[in-house]
Amino acid sequence: MTKTLNSVKTTALITGASTGIGATYADRLARRGYNLILVARDQKRMEALAERLRADTGVTVDILQADLTRSEDLATVEARLRGDERIGLLVNNAGMAAHGSYAAPDLEAWSSLISLNVTALTRLTGAVVPRFLAQGKGEIINIASVLALAPEMPLGPYAATKSFVVTLTQGLNLELGARGIYAQAVLPAATRTEIWERSGRDVNSLTGVMEVGEMVDAALVGFDRRETITLPSLPDAAQWDAYDNARKAMLPNFPQEHAAARYQA
Ligand SMILES: NC(=O)c1ccc[n+]([C@@H]2O[C@H](COP(=O)([O-])OP(=O)(O)OC[C@H]3O[C@@H](n4cnc5c(N)ncnc54)[C@H](OP(=O)(O)O)[C@@H]3O)[C@@H](O)[C@H]2O)c1
Repeated sequence: MTKTLNSVKTTALITGASTGIGATYADRLARRGYNLILVARDQKRMEALAERLRADTGVTVDILQADLTRSEDLATVEARLRGDERIGLLVNNAGMAAHGSYAAPDLEAWSSLISLNVTALTRLTGAVVPRFLAQGKGEIINIASVLALAPEMPLGPYAATKSFVVTLTQGLNLELGARGIYAQAVLPAATRTEIWERSGRDVNSLTGVMEVGEMVDAALVGFDRRETITLPSLPDAAQWDAYDNARKAMLPNFPQEHAAARYQA
């Protein structure tokens, strides 16, 4: 599974690669021999990372500066994904959490949140999948969150954007897995990155925070195992299996000509 430095196989395009989880994926994938395309807004940070990774690993690293909430920038990244046949792995990592909760709605912030966490991820996936299908293979890593399963946490619509990512990834695998596409949803719990500070929260006030390197290394174990859902922090995988099996058990019962007895007036 692990690629060596001497057998470069493919290029990975990573969004949100200037820091945090995305920059850590860049490091780990470069060490596996992937050439890289880094996408984010902060050109200087990406240049510094690219320089280090080129020197440490010998892979090629391109930089695509883009604000993925801007449609023109997003179109540039989509075009690269459509046209560059060397790209075999898309890491949809760029994401944000917004300030506030449902009790204090900030509609502009919510729009940006959905643009980045939902629209950009979906459009980039849609841009690359037809080419992957034509080539008969392709890999997509989508960074979701345990909050996809935990609306109890008071982070407003952030959790809902991550539920979207989980469902999209499951659907991708179900529809296209047999045609050579592999998609993984990674659901990190609290991980030490700048996202907390950026959304006005203090990560040091939390317990159970994982270091970013450990989270990404665990997620890559799940990637190598071809998991659809990877929960790096969940101790007992049987809990996820029970949850998913309960969902699947409902499926044959959804289509009914009549409302359930409890809703009959
Ligand atoms: N850290 C956690 O506790 C945690 C837990 C669960 C899930 N996640 C998810 O993990 C992913 C990565 O988050 P992180 O924790 O690594 O956060 P981070 O440290 O804040 O990094 C976010 C990355 O996304 C980029 N980005 C932000 N807005 C962007 C935009 N408009 N256009 C392009 N790039 C943009 C940032 O770069 P620039 O500022 O240079 O653009 C940065 O590279 C996110 O999807 C997040 O929801 C994080």
